Amino acid sequence: MTTLEKRFPENFLWGGAIAANQAEGAWNVDGKGVSLSDVVRGGIVEGTADECVIEGRDYASHEAIDFYHRYKEDIALFAEMGMKCFRTSIAWTRIFPNGDEAAPNEKGLHFYDDLFDELLKYGIEPVITLSHYETPLHLINEYGGWANRKLIGFFENYCRVVFNRYKNKVKYWMTFNEINNLHTIPYAAGAIRISSEETKLQEIYQTAHHLFIASAIATKLCHEIIPGARMGCMLSLSILYPNTCNPDDVFAAYELRRRSLFFSDVMLRGYYPGYVKRIWKEYRIEVHMEAGDLELMKEHTADYLGFSYYRSTTFKAGMPILGHTGGIMGLDNPYLDKTEWGWPIDAIGLRYVCNELYDRYQKPLFILENGYGGHDEVDKNGNINDDARINYLNLHLVEIAEAIEDGVDLIGYTWWGPIDIVSAGTGEMRKRYGFIYVDKDNEGNGTFERRKKKSFDWYKKVIETNGEVLFEKEEVASFNE
Ligand code: BG6
Repeated sequence: MTTLEKRFPENFLWGGAIAANQAEGAWNVDGKGVSLSDVVRGGIVEGTADECVIEGRDYASHEAIDFYHRYKEDIALFAEMGMKCFRTSIAWTRIFPNGDEAAPNEKGLHFYDDLFDELLKYGIEPVITLSHYETPLHLINEYGGWANRKLIGFFENYCRVVFNRYKNKVKYWMTFNEINNLHTIPYAAGAIRISSEETKLQEIYQTAHHLFIASAIATKLCHEIIPGARMGCMLSLSILYPNTCNPDDVFAAYELRRRSLFFSDVMLRGYYPGYVKRIWKEYRIEVHMEAGDLELMKEHTADYLGFSYYRSTTFKAGMPILGHTGGIMGLDNPYLDKTEWGWPIDAIGLRYVCNELYDRYQKPLFILENGYGGHDEVDKNGNINDDARINYLNLHLVEIAEAIEDGVDLIGYTWWGPIDIVSAGTGEMRKRYGFIYVDKDNEGNGTFERRKKKSFDWYKKVIETNGEVLFEKEEVASFNE
């Protein structure tokens, strides 16, 4: 018994999270259209995007882990772990293949009906992202992506259709995945191809405005069509520290952090903050707005703040601030270990972020992504001993328990990638997050067989005990030995 026990509320949503384009595969099956992710090679951060699918090229999302055909087997495993919720996205292009059609694709709607039914059969609450780096490619090639206001209407149509269709199945929604990554990866987050460095900021802030209006409309519709449903905003909010205590560095880090918090400030408070007006003035940015926009934003704010947290970053005055939101790796932090992919491991940073965000907004938080991406080996007995993943999970959950004790209102926690999926950033299979191993390698070889890793039983035990096992640290080390 420790003083930390019983901190997780009884109804805490323990779960896992994936995205359609990183898991489903079946990219052109049953009428699905091409999304922006379907033409990316080598990942949305490190790779390149073609203008159309080019035969013979290797696109990670085309096959992914074939979740489209194997979701029943996978959900049975999630249920065995005891998951209370499961976050995934609806691939917009399954519902509207080009994005601008008037009528939806019934086969696409049917797929998600079945998927949600399967989750509900086990009492797993679906938590749904409407757009996870998956805007229909046609909307980029024809209209210029979210830089064009017309996309708001297409998105509204899509939202109306899915809210009506799934109103008895889905209560937790969010609009755009990691919306603040518009600064760092504008193609993925805003479906825009930046025309030039000179116009970049103008394009980003105009696009952001369209995404805000689309989110406000989606929130309005969601509340009208599904009473009691909750619509969230979703940001990438790994923490940012000043590199030194030099006030110049402290303020530079603060300013960079605000580039991210700008998005949640608008979506949770419902208005443009004063500091962005200074940025617009200094960079001669003119955001075109229509009558009624500001009222919509004010009246239909998000119900909760969902975010991803993986690591921390340090930042120094003089480093380029524009174009960054903190998604950068920053300078080395000598106090922290790193993952094999060089991501600093900082569990206390997660407690810090929870407190920072709850102090700022006093709205419920939902940790929608947190995870350890590493390379796994199947040993000669067929086991996968992923102690580093168990350790990462334990460290972060202990800090979450602290945050709850600090008074933070937390809806739940969804581990990123409870089953191995394709990495969004690099397009690899080798960078694995799962508690469940998928037999597929970077070259596309493998049987797709699913196999439990050591962490599978660990997470199961965490959920079973509502987090109480966490505090018995010796048990983590000896678990399953
Ligand atoms: C988040 C994204 O930024 O990070 C996910 O929402 C992504 O789509 C996750 O997979 C982890 O990043 P990566 O590059 O390791 O897959």
